Amino acid sequence: KHVAVLMGGLSAEREVSLNSGKACADALEAEGYRVTRIDVGRDIAAVLDRLRPDVVFNALHGSPGEDGTIQGILEIMRLPYTHSGVLASALAMDKARAKLVMAAAGVPVAHGIVVHRREAAERHVLPPPYVLKPVNEGSSVGVIIVREERSHPPQELTRPDWPHTDWLLAEEYIAGRELTCAVMGGKALGVIDIRPAAGAFYDYDAKYAKGGSIHILPAKIKPKIYQQIEELALTAHQALGCRGVSRADFRYDDRPEGSGKLVCLEVNTQPGMTETSLVPELAAHAGYSFGELMRWMVEDASC
Ligand code: DAL
Ligand code: MG
Repeated sequence: KHVAVLMGGLSAEREVSLNSGKACADALEAEGYRVTRIDVGRDIAAVLDRLRPDVVFNALHGSPGEDGTIQGILEIMRLPYTHSGVLASALAMDKARAKLVMAAAGVPVAHGIVVHRREAAERHVLPPPYVLKPVNEGSSVGVIIVREERSHPPQELTRPDWPHTDWLLAEEYIAGRELTCAVMGGKALGVIDIRPAAGAFYDYDAKYAKGGSIHILPAKIKPKIYQQIEELALTAHQALGCRGVSRADFRYDDRPEGSGKLVCLEVNTQPGMTETSLVPELAAHAGYSFGELMRWMVEDASC
């Protein structure tokens, strides 16, 4: 089979996607597929039309690879592609609207509101501590944690060159653990407990610098909670209409003085596939080598 691996692209996560794409393309070649690597630009439809691959492996992150846009082109061209389709991609990319669907399916989510960045710069839109994040970014790009009642609302939001969308999701900050669970088809692959090596949360550096975070797999949490997270990840995947592989991120406050709250932050329809990424690690834990995971994804592709 001839597989075109889409990578790079136009989003803030371009570098991450180039790394994901390289890892996937290398593994697919090792599995015996004929692979063409494509750094995605605005001419992607023309490029794919010339190439006519058997399968498109989507290793893009962010817009337009994760938000349904590329998926729409591939549907029109009738090219089978990996991961989620148009609706699930568009929905999951919008964190606020995805929360509405997840909550309706019984998946607990953090209390939050959508605000314009101007408003978030003027006043505390929630009682601190709270989190501000662009409604449609990934890899923690643009995430701000406001901890102190005394602090000013974040002034960087007033900058004319603010590089993200004007619309932010403001959410209560849930202290405690960061947990993540991958779903492959109809199956949850396990739960990782993520401990950033430095700093307060799993930010961009903690995600992609070597040694930026420690991953505890299987997460050392009560078996009942572990199982509950796997069930919630699967429910969220299904409620959003995801296909193939996705990864759901959670926060769980298990501090002795904590609230015991467990919430799903979001579902990633194009989870990272870099060397430090979580899905390959979870797949290995569930018994799939990286090559086997790639093969499964290519054979699962559809349009
Ligand atoms: N958005 C990054 C790539 C992830 O979800 O892993
Ligand atoms: Mg994400």
